[in-house]
Amino acid sequence: MPNFTAPKGTNDILPSQTPIWRQTEEKLAAIAASFGYEEIRTPMFEDTNLFARGVGESTDIVTKEMYTFLHRGKESLTLRPEGTAPVIRSYIENGMHSDAQPVKLYYLNPTFRAENPQKGRYRQFHQFGAEGIGSYDPSMDAEIIMLGKAVFDAFKIDSVTLYINSVGCPKCRESYYDTLRAFLSQHIGDLCEDCKSRLGKNPMRVLDCKNENCQKLTQNAPVMLDYLCSECESHFEKLAEYLAASSVEYTVDPKIVRGLDYYTKTAFEFKTDKLGSQSAVCAGGRYDGLSESLGGPPAPGIGFGLGIERLLLLADLSANERYTDIYFAPTTDEARLVSFKLAAKARSLGKTVQTDTMQRSLKAQMKFADKIGSVYVAILTEETLKANSMTIRNMLTKEQFDIAIVDLEKIWEK
Ligand code: HAM
Repeated sequence: MPNFTAPKGTNDILPSQTPIWRQTEEKLAAIAASFGYEEIRTPMFEDTNLFARGVGESTDIVTKEMYTFLHRGKESLTLRPEGTAPVIRSYIENGMHSDAQPVKLYYLNPTFRAENPQKGRYRQFHQFGAEGIGSYDPSMDAEIIMLGKAVFDAFKIDSVTLYINSVGCPKCRESYYDTLRAFLSQHIGDLCEDCKSRLGKNPMRVLDCKNENCQKLTQNAPVMLDYLCSECESHFEKLAEYLAASSVEYTVDPKIVRGLDYYTKTAFEFKTDKLGSQSAVCAGGRYDGLSESLGGPPAPGIGFGLGIERLLLLADLSANERYTDIYFAPTTDEARLVSFKLAAKARSLGKTVQTDTMQRSLKAQMKFADKIGSVYVAILTEETLKANSMTIRNMLTKEQFDIAIVDLEKIWEK
């Protein structure tokens, strides 16, 4: 047993995988840019109160899943468990409400939640997120949802379904909560402990409980969609029109309630049945009151977070083969020095280059060059140096020829 292993729920992204991650991140950035979204990078940790107030004191994230620590015994800081509250904090702090609206931002973030790890669920994971801030209009909701869909299209994933719902606004939610509480109180003895405490602060979340018993009890529970005020109802209808006009297929699911408190009106999830119990790959919604709850100006917004690990589990991408343009194989100390100089020159020509740093024999070097997928090997020996030349071997065709050291470029002219 090694002395140390990566902490539970975290993963090393190894060299065989990093090319896939890099390509994926570049692709996601390009898709976001094609919709006019610009990248934002916020700190890895924030004031704990930002999440307590933004995400909600009674949510699972805040009560059970945050990595919180005291800085010098005083200031409570928390590793980012989600990306929206930090983005809105930055929007307020940097006066982005004075910029042209909407402000459209995206991020690629390591994110941290102390959950029980399983396939697709980790303690450190990565989110691609997008936030459209400054518009109350349902067209903004449609654009965000289309951006999420564009990701699945670009990665050729057809195993996800889009579910949408409206979770109303504080106005219509109040009377709905009374109705829902009255319904749930009849079954209070049968609800799980978590749901008993949800009943007071956010009874809607009981509808989302994974406990089988709670799910059974809530099968016929009243749903927010039937209690929307006229403004929320018209918002939902217009969103549906935009989605239909853009040929985005969706299913209305009144049980989509989301696990964070900031949501108002639109809530949505792209779900799959390919990842066991981790069904949501991309999820989000509108949060019209978040800015004000953080002490900022009125600034409506809508966005989503998409788990990159979950995306990769579905996308099944394979990394490109290993690739090197040229490997310099020196056989003497003097040849080693020349190799270093030539390697630098080849790199300045834009080539991918390696040379010996292990004092290996020529035979071992040829084996290594093969392993790293080098197209050419330049062999530098005592004899070739005497002739100011090197022997070039094309590892693909097995052809071999000698070339003057000063003519390095000519290798690629052949
Ligand atoms: P969320 O639903 O908590 O929303 O997370 C969004 C996505 O992050 C999930 O659908 C999933 O793909 C991924 N995810 C969440 N937890 C884990 C985990 N433990 N391991 C692996 N992947 C995970 C939010 O975070 C909101 N900030 C989304 C949002 C943005 N709403 C508005 N704007």
